[in-house]
Amino acid sequence: MMDMTQSMYPVPGDPLPPAVRAPSGLRMIAVASGKGGVGKTWLSIALAQGLALRGKRVLLVDCDLGLANIDIQLGLMPPHDLAAVLVGRRSLKDVIITHAPAALPNGAFDILPGRSGAASLAVLDLAILGRLLDAIRRLQGYDTVLLDLGAGIDPATRFLAAAVDTLLVVSTDEPTALADAYAVLKLQARDRRARDDRALDADVRLVINQCSSAASGRRTYAVLARACGTFLGKAPSLAGIVRRDGRVPESIRRQTTILLRHPNAQAAEDVGRLVDALLR
Ligand SMILES: Nc1ncnc2c1ncn2[C@@H]1O[C@H](COP(=O)(O)OP(=O)(O)O)[C@@H](O)[C@H]1O
Ligand SMILES: [Mg+2]
Repeated sequence: MMDMTQSMYPVPGDPLPPAVRAPSGLRMIAVASGKGGVGKTWLSIALAQGLALRGKRVLLVDCDLGLANIDIQLGLMPPHDLAAVLVGRRSLKDVIITHAPAALPNGAFDILPGRSGAASLAVLDLAILGRLLDAIRRLQGYDTVLLDLGAGIDPATRFLAAAVDTLLVVSTDEPTALADAYAVLKLQARDRRARDDRALDADVRLVINQCSSAASGRRTYAVLARACGTFLGKAPSLAGIVRRDGRVPESIRRQTTILLRHPNAQAAEDVGRLVDALLR
């Protein structure tokens, strides 16, 4: 019997997962956005590798079941995926693969692949999702779990965004992306408030991606932070700014990572700073 099915949490009628860190000190970080295409998956992969290069033992989970693409961005063909875990056909250990590029052995990390075209997490029973998180928390050998979420505010994505220790909300400087990021922040604040345990306030940070310069990224952050301060009573901090860089799509086309292919690219440097800030 696989681990996942033995969990008792969450009980019916309690859709909110526990936000506590596992006793091991495992840190769960989710990467979210309102609008699609802002760079969540690319950033999640870069963060996973950046954290690994700093000695973290990382599991990267593709939670975008409908449009899963961590495997595609990395050119992997995983034999099994998260969908098989969710229906109880496979255990987490059967499905997790290790991404260890020979040219960057210290940047190795594990991946729990999603599956493109599978039924979306959106239609999934939240109790199943809660059990999945529980099972992931109980896995041995990791200190950091990164969740690459689907875009938007469907119940499953909201559930995951409210469950983690650190939520990174990614936006570009486009007004549509900003408006949608604001919606994510607002709902996350509401979902956390609905929880009993106010002491476990999440650490919410913004990433401004694909900006023309660091200065324009800071201006974009200031606009969104001001709106959050005014209307939500609390502004997220700035996780980091990642500049638009032609070597990002170039490395994706080659199905490799920016830190491996272009470690000195602007975007790679920006990710490095973001990782350092996350670890401070
Ligand atoms: N910093 C960046 N500079 C240039 N292009 C970027 C950058 N970040 C992301 N992109 C582009 O955005 C596209 C969408 O990224 P992706 O990670 O798939 O977004 P999401 O997961 O949010 O839908 C990528 O194919 C990539 O070409
Ligand atoms: Mg994605």
